[in-house]
Amino acid sequence: MKISIRSEVKDIAEEIIAIRRDIHKHPELGFEVHRTAELVSNHLKKLGFNVSDGIGKTGVVGDLIGHGSGPTIGLRADMDALPIQETSDLLYSSVNDGIMHACGHDGHTAMLLGAATVLKQFQNQLNGNVRFIFQPAEEGDGGARYMIEDGCLESVDEIFGIHLWNYQPYGEVGVKEGPILAAADFFDITIKGIGGHGAAPQGTIDAVLVSAHLITALQSIVSRNTNPLESTVVTIGQINGGHNFNVIADKIVLKGTARSYSKENRQLIQDRMEEIISGIAKTFSAEIDFNYSEGYPPTVNNEISYQKLMLSAKKIVGDKCGFPYLSMGGEDFSYYAEKIPGCFFFVGSAPSDKKLRSVPHHCSHFDIDENALLIGSSIFVQLIEDQLINIR
Ligand code: NI
Repeated sequence: MKISIRSEVKDIAEEIIAIRRDIHKHPELGFEVHRTAELVSNHLKKLGFNVSDGIGKTGVVGDLIGHGSGPTIGLRADMDALPIQETSDLLYSSVNDGIMHACGHDGHTAMLLGAATVLKQFQNQLNGNVRFIFQPAEEGDGGARYMIEDGCLESVDEIFGIHLWNYQPYGEVGVKEGPILAAADFFDITIKGIGGHGAAPQGTIDAVLVSAHLITALQSIVSRNTNPLESTVVTIGQINGGHNFNVIADKIVLKGTARSYSKENRQLIQDRMEEIISGIAKTFSAEIDFNYSEGYPPTVNNEISYQKLMLSAKKIVGDKCGFPYLSMGGEDFSYYAEKIPGCFFFVGSAPSDKKLRSVPHHCSHFDIDENALLIGSSIFVQLIEDQLINIR
């Protein structure tokens, strides 16, 4: 089955790619996406949209108002980059030291601006409205929450979000019903013992020994407590403590992350962690402090929104649509999809050039197959046409 890029998207392909390269060259972090937001805002204003700046601190919202009493559909892109020094040697490599678009958010913004340009041509035919949502701070600070607080979902009936995905080849669209990305929680554990001479353990409480038992016991949550058919992860990623080879450590700090696809498993992990920690503390007479913080909730695709996305995406990529390369990563699109029906989908962007095929996201020489941008814009355009023009 061949790929059918929309002809209106083909007409502006160079512009879409140029926007992506411009943003790639000038990456910005978190809420500091001032230049990018200005670029987005100017583009939307030039198209004649109703534009609101400074939503969710530095986000931009643009409304394309159609006719009739149809729904308002939200389309969302994220604009922020990562604190990574780019090592690739591209014409459009980052000029900002230590900052890089290594996740593809430059492409998300370009695809959505491309779709906005095309959809403007259809304004008079739209039975309903389209809200273009460009948010800052997806990478960790939960920009989506600030966007929602500032009203970006008011009068929006349904929302769709996109992610370029180097784990899937160009031409594939990864999407599924239900959970598609995980809850991304984090925690720290401080073990307080009593230090002493390494040759005289009597009277001490060895924080290293306690941490060893604790780390091992925590791995039993995923292997013994959660349903093996429901993915979960508990990772201790960092251990700090101790003074010297011959000193029994009085304090160890552990940091880690817990991932799950459901509210139930999320709670189960947290509860079991508490039980295991208090049990181990008692066993070794240590004092253990535990701080568990909830990060982004799981991203859960609404069944009907998923079907709508599939209907339109199939018109672009044919049967190469459906099963995603799933990940236990998190996404703050989840906050939107908690409030209103929504669907988040992946657009395969593994570079066709075999040498680049395996470059993963968040890698210092990350790059995409830019043809994937045209697929993304086409799906957005097709989706709006199917929902606001074809369905009356
Ligand atoms: Ni990302």
